[in-house]
Amino acid sequence: MTAEALTPPDTPADAGSAQRTPLVVRTRSELRDAQMRWAIAGPLVPAGLDADPGRRAVVMTMGALHDGHLELVRRARAEAGPNGQVVVTIFVNPLQFGAGEDLGAYPRDLDGDVAKLAGVGADVVFAPTPDVVYPDGDPVVRVAAGRIGDVLEGEHRPGHLDGVLTVVLKLMHLVRPDVALFGEKDAQQLLAVRRMVRDLEVSVEVVGVPTVREADGLALSSRNAYLSPEEREHALALSRALGAGAAAPDSGGAGVINAARQVLDEADGVVVDYLALVDPVTARSVADDFSGHALLLVAARVGTTRLIDNQAVEVSPDQR
Ligand code: PAF
Repeated sequence: MTAEALTPPDTPADAGSAQRTPLVVRTRSELRDAQMRWAIAGPLVPAGLDADPGRRAVVMTMGALHDGHLELVRRARAEAGPNGQVVVTIFVNPLQFGAGEDLGAYPRDLDGDVAKLAGVGADVVFAPTPDVVYPDGDPVVRVAAGRIGDVLEGEHRPGHLDGVLTVVLKLMHLVRPDVALFGEKDAQQLLAVRRMVRDLEVSVEVVGVPTVREADGLALSSRNAYLSPEEREHALALSRALGAGAAAPDSGGAGVINAARQVLDEADGVVVDYLALVDPVTARSVADDFSGHALLLVAARVGTTRLIDNQAVEVSPDQR
């Protein structure tokens, strides 16, 4: 077989340039074909038999892509290497939406998403329909996030993280990545994925990628599209509160929370679901006199839009 025959559009021959539009696959067999062609052709093209074949990296999304997702894909390209394969999944997972949430209204624009992915390093977009991911209907056996899924998001969205982990594990089995990249904005999700990979011996490296923010601090989120200009102004209170908490001087865990809460209490149009300072591994709240490395998380509704944000905080001992 010639190198040319081994170079279909989804192989890494031109992956290093990352300029082209990714191949879109919708079914399991199309995905398998794309994987096979990379596995066969990848190491041979373009640099010869001793070239580093790279890795397969996956970025899982629900579409409605923004710069935060594109940053994940750029990072995935770097993790995969020029000869590796970067797969972006686009799937609005019904299992992680509760009753009354925005499953039906969730923005869907596959063509627009694929156009955004041109030039950032994605090789393949896997965009299955629910019957491809769940061929037997709702899965009977699911992943449980356990005590990580009972707190914070879990208190306000029961079963949400179980639905996330179930689809993440399924997509890991389907895509078979070496490395999976997740945004740090969904901190509890990232923590739960790390724990699942560890507890269930999933052989995938999990990489967290820092939150991308607008110049005024608003964390990028697909749900920002729902905000009116006035609500967008109100939403800035979330990142302001996190900043105030992180800047609270020498005042222990309670001081961090108090500084953040004051900003939220004074904010217009923001209904807080939770504000919490937690252990970054267990997601459990830290004690009032805690000092050390922690995560400050906030979830709030601005109008009808629910937003989450978080910031890593180095809590100093209370000196007062
Ligand atoms: O973060 C998301 O967009 C989703 O929760 C994920 C990881 C793609 C699973 O559906």
